[in-house]
Amino acid sequence: MTTKPAQLLDEAAIAARVAEMGRAITADFAARELVIVVVLKGSFVFAADLIRRIDLPLTVEFLGVRSYGDAMETSGEVQVTTDLTRPVEGKDVLLVEDIVDTGLTLSFLLDTLARRAPRSLKLAALLHKPARTRVPVNIDYLGFSIDDKFVVGYGLDHAQQHRNLPYVGVLEP
Ligand code: IMP
Ligand code: MG
Repeated sequence: MTTKPAQLLDEAAIAARVAEMGRAITADFAARELVIVVVLKGSFVFAADLIRRIDLPLTVEFLGVRSYGDAMETSGEVQVTTDLTRPVEGKDVLLVEDIVDTGLTLSFLLDTLARRAPRSLKLAALLHKPARTRVPVNIDYLGFSIDDKFVVGYGLDHAQQHRNLPYVGVLEP
């Protein structure tokens, strides 16, 4: 094994912020029922923690996407590989994403979901790299803004590795 990625956000900081996000979501949706749409694969760890901080009736769906391009940057060509199991028409949908980088993936996903006529559609993202924005995306619930560095851990990968790191770390080149 090579050296561990350098720590950027530690477990306690992530847990505290995720709890705050859960409280904000709980307050905003009052007693409504949510459909949580988890974008695979990177968001599964964040989503697992976030839903346990949301005190509302909710269901969970997964959306698998694949984007083409080189390993560290998306091409914006996004393909849905695993679709939702139930219609979201008329439902309050919260899309849960690990990181908004260029915004290309999210803008595609938000368009795709909006066409299915949910009652509302909001976005929760753990991380945002504002310096890399190519398509502006409105993030309703954001964990942390970070510098333009490639990060791994807490579900995020590089070449499918490091998802099990309990913190968010920076991959040294
Ligand atoms: P976007 O379409 O450029 O916003 O890219 C979004 C997707 O690229 C994310 O959902 C991640 O899967 C991946 N990604 C972007 N930046 C990083 C990073 O720093 N670490 C790991 N994955 C990343
Ligand atoms: Mg992702």
